[in-house]
Amino acid sequence: MNVAEVRKRYLDFFAKRGHAVIPSAPIVPENDPTTLFTSSGMQPLVPYLLGTPHPEGARLADSQLCFRAEDIEEVGDNRHTTFFEMLGNWSLGDYFKKEQLAWFYEFLTNKEEGLGLDPQKLYMTTFSGDEESGMPADTESVDIWKSIGVNDDHLFTYGAKKNWWSRAGVPTKMPAGEIGGPDSEVFYDFGTLHDLKFGEECHPNCDCGRFVEIGNSVFMQYVKQSNGTFKELPKKNVDFGGGLERLAFAAIGNPDIFMIDVFDTARTVLESRSGIQYRDISCPTPDVGHDMSYIRSFRVILDHMRAASFFIASGVRPGNSEQGYVLRRLIRRSIREADKLGIKEDVLAEVAEGFGSAYAETYPFVHAAAQTIRTELEKEEGQFRKTLAHGMRELEKMGDTIDTFLLYTTYGFPIELTAEIAAERGVSINLDKVREQMEAHQALSREGAVQKFAGGLADQAEQTVRYHTTHHLLLKALQMVLGPDVHQRGSNITSARLRIDFSYGQKMTDEQKAEVEKIVNEKIAEAIPVIRTDMKKEEAEKLGAEHEFGASYPDIVSVYSVGPLDNAFSIEFCGGPHVSNTSELKGTFKILKEEASSAGVRRIKAILQ
Ligand code: ALA
Repeated sequence: MNVAEVRKRYLDFFAKRGHAVIPSAPIVPENDPTTLFTSSGMQPLVPYLLGTPHPEGARLADSQLCFRAEDIEEVGDNRHTTFFEMLGNWSLGDYFKKEQLAWFYEFLTNKEEGLGLDPQKLYMTTFSGDEESGMPADTESVDIWKSIGVNDDHLFTYGAKKNWWSRAGVPTKMPAGEIGGPDSEVFYDFGTLHDLKFGEECHPNCDCGRFVEIGNSVFMQYVKQSNGTFKELPKKNVDFGGGLERLAFAAIGNPDIFMIDVFDTARTVLESRSGIQYRDISCPTPDVGHDMSYIRSFRVILDHMRAASFFIASGVRPGNSEQGYVLRRLIRRSIREADKLGIKEDVLAEVAEGFGSAYAETYPFVHAAAQTIRTELEKEEGQFRKTLAHGMRELEKMGDTIDTFLLYTTYGFPIELTAEIAAERGVSINLDKVREQMEAHQALSREGAVQKFAGGLADQAEQTVRYHTTHHLLLKALQMVLGPDVHQRGSNITSARLRIDFSYGQKMTDEQKAEVEKIVNEKIAEAIPVIRTDMKKEEAEKLGAEHEFGASYPDIVSVYSVGPLDNAFSIEFCGGPHVSNTSELKGTFKILKEEASSAGVRRIKAILQ
């Protein structure tokens, strides 16, 4: 049974039982500034769970696109993915525990209409109560499971951490107004060997991977009050959520979620590019003695590229904040894992194509965005591979004394990546210290800027410094678009705008101006470190550092490079000050005016807006 078949059977099953099938809400929620991604099926339905009537009625079912950033570090085991589809059915004050548990059981075990799973492989958990909040045990669900025919040895109870559901977690953590309730989960037993590292005895919630949660019936019946107590909702609801991919891997009985069909094409791409066969871990002999870390690399890339495809198709672009930053992180982590697999050339776009085709029928918007997905991934991979190569080289040299701060400020190497690598190597890094260093560094560059521009401009100093760095980006962009003969012939910077005079004989076309703007904005988005190096004048000249026509320089000069010296976007003789990273150039770069200044010299006025 493949993923599409499981989805179809589930929706048909609940449609037949009076449920209106509704489409998935977007993965990036619309008009909801409180959350970056939709992370559960109930999220878009909260108003209806609180009591507003739903236009489609009191019984709903869907398959919701979800993303859980908090699971990013878990990806690599047999069952965790950040991105998934959550199959859901809801009773908005209609049926309750009895119907819900019976239907879900029927769906799991019925061969004709459901998945035909072996009842002996199913384990059920219920809520044992929570002393702290005073919420009582859910004995009713235990009785219902028994009446369905589930044996005692397949029934387990747990406290609020495992069997209470709200978006905020346990009852005591819920803010006033949040809804929640006890839940009952079903686990599938893959029968794999228990690993003692996870505790003496295996049980449904053990982390060894033998039991995998495949569905959760939440009895959404309480709302938290501002005095900390709980009130019954006007109507008792059912919020069921089951991971589609997990139901699918249980249906095929393979304890590796990455073996379901939607990953097939992408996995094959990775196999052929790495020359490594992804081993099907349903094979019973543990591969002791082999380096199995490649499995984790495969899984991270497969998971992250599937998420990235849906994000880009939904309009997210790699960036430095919010959804864009999460996307960037997924891409960067994938590049690192591809590198570990020995894949040294760009590969992500090709992997992502496998998802466009896998979801062509169900989610045609992903397939339709194939070209954009390719372009965005290629762009980001091209840039980050260079950063990765430089950063890794420096990191190797550092041995056990990894300088996270230096790696970030000098090579643009992401702090969380250094933290991950350090953890893999068992080297400890002090993130609090790094945070302090970062704060001091930012304060210092602000202070430096203020001092240099004292005398009237102090209050505007930061913006002036930004324009100073933007000026370097602009000059380089002009050379790229108009040719290498473009050089600076004068400049004037205030906190309100920058002005540059440069050698070029003609009026720029609108296309050329747009291209220059695009390049500068891309460099801002790329968050490139800006580095000062003091060196002999001859050395700087050898590096091709840009200097102003007619200016004379001392023997030792300061050079500012955007990016590390051996891989810089721009290098200029300059006394500074500059921002320490192009990401500090807040806003969008825009050319206000392009005009003649004197014979063979043009003038541009531009702003960051
Ligand atoms: N809302 C429940 C969950 O997300 C079903 O697990």
